[in-house]
Amino acid sequence: MRLDYLTIFPDFFAPLDLSLPGKAADKGLVEFHVHDLRGHSHDKHHRVDDTPYGGGAGMVMKPEPWGEAFDALGVDAGTTVVFTTPSGEPFDQRLAADLATRGRIVFACGRYEGIDQRVIDHAGERAEVREISLGDYVLNGGEVAALAITEAVVRLLPGFMGNAASLVEESHAEGGLLEYPVYTKPPQWRGHDVPAVLRSGDHGKVAAWRHEQAVRRTAERRPDLLHPSQLDDGTPIVRAT
Ligand code: ADE
Repeated sequence: MRLDYLTIFPDFFAPLDLSLPGKAADKGLVEFHVHDLRGHSHDKHHRVDDTPYGGGAGMVMKPEPWGEAFDALGVDAGTTVVFTTPSGEPFDQRLAADLATRGRIVFACGRYEGIDQRVIDHAGERAEVREISLGDYVLNGGEVAALAITEAVVRLLPGFMGNAASLVEESHAEGGLLEYPVYTKPPQWRGHDVPAVLRSGDHGKVAAWRHEQAVRRTAERRPDLLHPSQLDDGTPIVRAT
């Protein structure tokens, strides 16, 4: 997979060399290319924004630098262009898994009040376009969102995870429950004990306890993820395992 980032703040992407994404690049699973959008602005101050038609507060990103950048990157029908924006579709694990199947993604990171709509329309004529929001809050720009999406996608690439089971069991995996609480040694710490069932060696009981905990946690924190039948007067119904 090849990932490109178009931004006026290339330094935001230094963390791509670290941690999980860096490991994926070292394994040859992914390539990262970061591009300064200002390199495609040709007035003397390398401006990328201008005042909005119709008036209103703030500045809008001009179309020309984006168009030239798409040309330079060879954005085509085999490319997915992701515009990170608070008005996009919500990002979730399902969308991460979908994006993990793409061969090439170009992240277009907007700033200010957004990007001239014609840039998105034009990109849609030459590539697949997804407008994606990280959540219902406003960041100063799309860079942090692009990094978060990258990390969620790259760890799903085949060959990335040593232990594929941990992908299946984690929160938001297929099944839709939040993950159960986890414990490690020591068995007692500052007056808190590891639940006895986890030390019982009874795998059936461990699985049942984990499932019950996952349902309880989901009911408390994210009832929207549960089917109504799993919410009976606030008490989670525990499926038999
Ligand atoms: N840019 C600004 N806010 C954002 C958000 N919530 N998600 C994605 N990109 C953004």
